[in-house]
Amino acid sequence: MPRLFDGLELPASADFHVHLRQGAMMETVTPTITSGGVDTVYVMPNLIPPITTPAQAVEYKSRLQALAPDVTFLMSLYLHPSITPSIVREAKATGAIHGIKSYPAGVTTNSSSGVVDYESFYPVFAAMEEEGLVLNLHGELPPSQSPSAPEDQITVLNAEAAFLPTLRSLHTRFPNLRIVLEHCTTKAAVDMVLSISSPNVVGTITAHHLSLIVDDWAGDPLNFCKPVAKLPSDRIALLRAAVDPRRKFFLGTDSAPHPLRSKQGRSGTAGNDNSCGKCAAGVFTQPYATQLVLEALEEAVSKGILREEDVRREGVLEGFWARRGGGSMVCRRVSGG
Ligand code: DOR
Ligand code: ZN
Repeated sequence: MPRLFDGLELPASADFHVHLRQGAMMETVTPTITSGGVDTVYVMPNLIPPITTPAQAVEYKSRLQALAPDVTFLMSLYLHPSITPSIVREAKATGAIHGIKSYPAGVTTNSSSGVVDYESFYPVFAAMEEEGLVLNLHGELPPSQSPSAPEDQITVLNAEAAFLPTLRSLHTRFPNLRIVLEHCTTKAAVDMVLSISSPNVVGTITAHHLSLIVDDWAGDPLNFCKPVAKLPSDRIALLRAAVDPRRKFFLGTDSAPHPLRSKQGRSGTAGNDNSCGKCAAGVFTQPYATQLVLEALEEAVSKGILREEDVRREGVLEGFWARRGGGSMVCRRVSGG
C-alpha cells in the first residue's frame, strides 16, 4: 500500500536539541547526523565537566566539525553559577554560541551542577536578552521543589506541568529574551507555549515523544528519557502541535545516547552521572531523526488523529524542520526510496 510520504523530497532538517557526548561515543554518534536527514544541530552542553566557558564550547565545536565537516554545529553553554553577564557577552562574540541551556539540578543526565534557583540568574538572563542569546529550558521541576501538600508532590508525571508557571514568569520578566521550552511532552506544555503570543517563546518536540507513551518506557529502559513520555492525550497534542499553523514548535530530537550498561543501570559511565542501579535517561534517535517524525505523522493520519491536509499543507514539514525560507537548502529523499 502506498504510504503518505513515499517519494517525498524534503529539505534537510535542523535538529535543535542533540547530545553528541565526548570521546568514543562522540566519534560514533556525530557521523550519524546526516543519515537522519539533518544538516544543522544545536548541541547540548551537559558533558563531564559541563561546557561553561566560551573557550570550551569553541574547542568542542572544532572536535565535532572534524567528525562531520558538512554539518553546521550551533553551540550552547550550560547555565551554571560561574556564568556571568560578561561571559554572556564573550559567548555572543564568538559567533559559535547561540544559547545557554538550563538544567534543573538533579533531574537528568549530568545535571548535578544545574539550576536550583532561577532568580540568581536574572542578571545573566538580562544580558542574554540584550545580546540575543537563547535560553533553552529543560522544563521540569525537581522533586525537591515540591509543594507542601503531599498530593501535589512532584513526580516524573507532573514535573513538566508544574514547571510551566516558571516559564511564564521568566517571559513576563524578560519579554525580549528568546526562550525555547525543550522537549515538550504534555498537552499542558503545548497549551502554555501556544498561549504566549510572543514569537520569543517557542518549543521543541522530539521524534520519540511523537510515538511513545508512558507504557512504552515502563519496563523498557531504552525508551526511558526525561521528561518521560506521558499519556495518549499528550502525544496527540504533540502531534497536532508539530503541524500547527502557528509554527511555535520545531524539531529538537533530544537524541541522547548512553552505553547499554548505563541504560540497564549497570554502571555510571563516562557521559553519565546516573547512580549505579538507576537507568540512564535518554532515547537515541540521531540516525533516524526525520524518518521517525515522518513515521509518527503518517501513523497519526492513518489513525485519524491528523488529517492528511494538516500534514501536507505547504510549508508544514519545512516549518517543523526549521526550514521556513525555502531557497538554498539541501534536498534529499528521507522516506520512501
Ligand atoms: O532523557 C534525557 N537525556 N533527557 C535529558 O534532558 C538529558 C538527556 C541526556 O543527556 O542523556
Ligand atoms: Zn537533552
